[in-house]
Amino acid sequence: MKTSLNKEKKYQKEILKFKGEKWNFIKERMLTNSKIYKSIDGLKYLHIGNNKNIKKEALCIKKIKRLGFPIPELLEYDKTKKQSYYIEKSAGDKSFGDKFYKEYFSQSKINSNTLESMCDVVCLFLRSQIRSSDYFNSKYDLRKNIMLKNILVENPDLNHIKVELCVSKIENRLYSLPTTFSHGDLTPRNIFENGIIDIEFNSIMPVGYDVLTLPIMERFWGFKKNKNETYENFYLSEKQISHYFKRIEAEAKINGIKDFLTFRNDFILLKAIWSLANEKYSAKKSGDTSKLNFRKKILIYCIDKYLNNEMIETKKFKTFITI
Ligand SMILES: Nc1ncnc2c1ncn2[C@@H]1O[C@H](COP(=O)(O)OP(=O)(O)O)[C@@H](O)[C@H]1O
Ligand SMILES: [Mg+2]
Repeated sequence: MKTSLNKEKKYQKEILKFKGEKWNFIKERMLTNSKIYKSIDGLKYLHIGNNKNIKKEALCIKKIKRLGFPIPELLEYDKTKKQSYYIEKSAGDKSFGDKFYKEYFSQSKINSNTLESMCDVVCLFLRSQIRSSDYFNSKYDLRKNIMLKNILVENPDLNHIKVELCVSKIENRLYSLPTTFSHGDLTPRNIFENGIIDIEFNSIMPVGYDVLTLPIMERFWGFKKNKNETYENFYLSEKQISHYFKRIEAEAKINGIKDFLTFRNDFILLKAIWSLANEKYSAKKSGDTSKLNFRKKILIYCIDKYLNNEMIETKKFKTFITI
């Protein structure tokens, strides 16, 4: 009895019948209290859950699509009795994260044309960010967006004075950049040839927060899975990263932003703070502190480099692995 009930529960979790169609369960999102499903033909994705969060996300998708951002089209948004849902088009079968991983795994390097295709999508995204900045010029809360309070509460052992020095310096420096829609988790895993997905962490931020950190985000996953393996799936070479930045810099320049790359350090430090959020909680829950320790070491390194006005060398992150 128990097993068959479990089986039934599992089946319900894997396949959903909704609006006369069958949907495969993909994942549950704790942060927004929602679930993601994929249509059987693979052409659509369904997000269903908490009314407020789903509405916010659906309206955001509609708005930024209208503003020209390369994201999949919103097909439907509505309310059922208890929850809301929206359906969006699939952006494709394989993300650039999947492609990079496959290439890196089989030939220890990423093909330059694959990187070039990702750059095309990212440049379009950056262009949309800059050109739509008038729509997103409201006040933004940088500290809230990087979850600063959480990091300070969870990590009393961090040097809070140094953190504050960095954040206020960054706030002053970024003042000259236009603010715009920020994706918040722009990594190759969320980028497809047909657009960018997963706007769960969106906010308003100075332009650059997403695109100037994108090529090194994978390096935040360089902590150990076991003795021989890390969670990191691929590694762009320094030459490829430079190429990416050249393309981004050119795109920013033709859209009126000068010296864009000079803000790289500022944004990497913001990401180093953001990526530590809730890690203490997760470590307590799982009993595994490797990710927490790794990311804390990254942050301490970034803070020291930043305060010394030195370039943050993200390839150094690898040296912070412990097991
Ligand atoms: N519109 C979409 N097009 C293509 N794939 C999607 C789409 N929405 C979700 N996915 C797939 O579902 C996975 C999880 O969705 P995502 O929104 O990225 O959540 P998370 O990053 O929290 O896992 C993605 O990695 C992707 O494979
Ligand atoms: Mg994602």
